[in-house]
Amino acid sequence: MVLELQDTVQVVTNKALERHNYKRSELIAMLQEIQEEFHYLPAESLDVITEALEVPAPTVYGVATFYAQFSLEPKGKYLVRICDGTACHVKNSAKIYDSLSKKFNLETGALTTPDGLFTLETVACLGACGIAPVMVINETVYPQMSPEAAEMVVQTLMEREKEGELDGETLPKESGNEN
Ligand code: FES
Repeated sequence: MVLELQDTVQVVTNKALERHNYKRSELIAMLQEIQEEFHYLPAESLDVITEALEVPAPTVYGVATFYAQFSLEPKGKYLVRICDGTACHVKNSAKIYDSLSKKFNLETGALTTPDGLFTLETVACLGACGIAPVMVINETVYPQMSPEAAEMVVQTLMEREKEGELDGETLPKESGNEN
């Protein structure tokens, strides 16, 4: 299993390198593609890039840690982000976070469920203050959430996962709705 993951990391990383003709100037684009694939940047991947581009490791790791869009920590299949910008905060976004943290049974400080399905994070203003409070799961935006509505969305995902219906891309559009 570990070997399979390493092989996949190698393949994805090599593809990103080839797609960008091994150009150092396209390092960020390469990292974006790898992050998109794994939801984080595996260390093996950064090592392969360092060697292939013949740059010092701190250069690659420096870029990977500088930009907030990149993560060096593994993320769950579903990245659940609760906006905690001012508009969302005053509309009780913290309560949404707390209710999901409880639903996921996350230990203090843990962000990802032990089964690797869900990662729960807060995020700064998403630029959608008019529909606050906002929750985003992967690329899907959920407007005007309440703790109950957010729990329903997550419950739907959990049930569909149990039934093996989801691929991580097709998510419920609104709280608890199937379409
Ligand atoms: S504060 Fe949440 S979208 Fe702006």
